[in-house]
Amino acid sequence: MIKMLDDLYEKGTIEKEPLVDLLDALDHYDEQGLYSRLQSCADAVRRKHYGQSVFVRGLIEFSNRCVQNCLYCGLRKGNQRVQRYRLSQEEVIECCRTGYSLGYRTFVLQSGEDPWYTQDKMVEIIGGIRKICPDAAITLSIGERSMAEYRKFFEAGADRYLLRHETASRDLYEKLHPFMSYEARCEHLNMLKRIGFQTGAGFMVGLPDQTNHHLADDLLFLKKLNPEMIGIGPFLPHSDTPLGNRRRGTIEKTIMMVALARLLVPDALIPATTAMETLDPKGKEKALRSGANVLMTNLSPEEVRPKYALYENKLYTDEAPECCKQYTEDQIRNAGYKIDMGRGDSLKMVNGMME
Ligand code: 5AD
Ligand code: SF4
Repeated sequence: MIKMLDDLYEKGTIEKEPLVDLLDALDHYDEQGLYSRLQSCADAVRRKHYGQSVFVRGLIEFSNRCVQNCLYCGLRKGNQRVQRYRLSQEEVIECCRTGYSLGYRTFVLQSGEDPWYTQDKMVEIIGGIRKICPDAAITLSIGERSMAEYRKFFEAGADRYLLRHETASRDLYEKLHPFMSYEARCEHLNMLKRIGFQTGAGFMVGLPDQTNHHLADDLLFLKKLNPEMIGIGPFLPHSDTPLGNRRRGTIEKTIMMVALARLLVPDALIPATTAMETLDPKGKEKALRSGANVLMTNLSPEEVRPKYALYENKLYTDEAPECCKQYTEDQIRNAGYKIDMGRGDSLKMVNGMME
């Protein structure tokens, strides 16, 4: 197994069957030191491409309304126990203004799939941010839209788009996402790439009925798509959803996936996610030491933060943006890395364009 891992480390590629075997062996991670070797290989690859830098993003969760009904998510349309909110265009821009003055140079605008934010409203938000933060990157994470809308958002100045594939198994995907199609999801990711967005995919770890075969498919899906960003997090149940009484993912397995994603897509931007910290207070640090190189700080207005509950016990702070920034800086330093407040573009960007 060690030889298989070393091969993967050197070549950045692996076939499906050996990958499943490797995942099976890693599940007994205390044997042979295989698990810690994986972590150090991932850290070495990350250092080769990005050195000690950890990029920091400012996250604005601007609407928790959603037309979708994903079985796992606390914001699903069917959950009537959520207090719903929407920030106005001006409020979103204001969050970025505050973030910009604190030094943030990437803003991630995230929401449920909320058609209230029409093409025109989104373009107004993107244009407004562009005007006051000319050198900042704008990342959208607002779900599936039409090709024409993606184009308009790009032309208005959005740089990046996150759309996790959630699971690369069509069966599992369609069970978890009523009325959504796996093919459409893949097509949307390809559209985003074609337009020129730095594109993010990713998946959840520990979903009900998910096996190492599924996870191997997720990793190989990433290898093939070669996205600029990769978001991986544990599944965490929410009691007001149909999966409320299922088991949650583990931190060990999630970190394992982060490390393998780093080996397979060496130059990707990979965040240490809040969901990891919800599972384990040291979860983010562990991820940073195993291949992750991005942290997100919450810039949403304090009063809406508890309402953006994708899963239960989601950590949120009621701290002002200044304090969140300090906390993030400390986390990065404690893990042994250096904070980088720059835009943190993909290494594939050359002169402001995707290669
Ligand atoms: N547990 C973990 N992650 C979740 N997400 C949504 N609901 C949950 C949950 N219950 C993730 C999805 C989505 C991202 C914004 O949050 O992967 O793409
Ligand atoms: Fe909506 Fe996203 Fe939650 Fe699905 S995961 S219900 S699209 S917010």
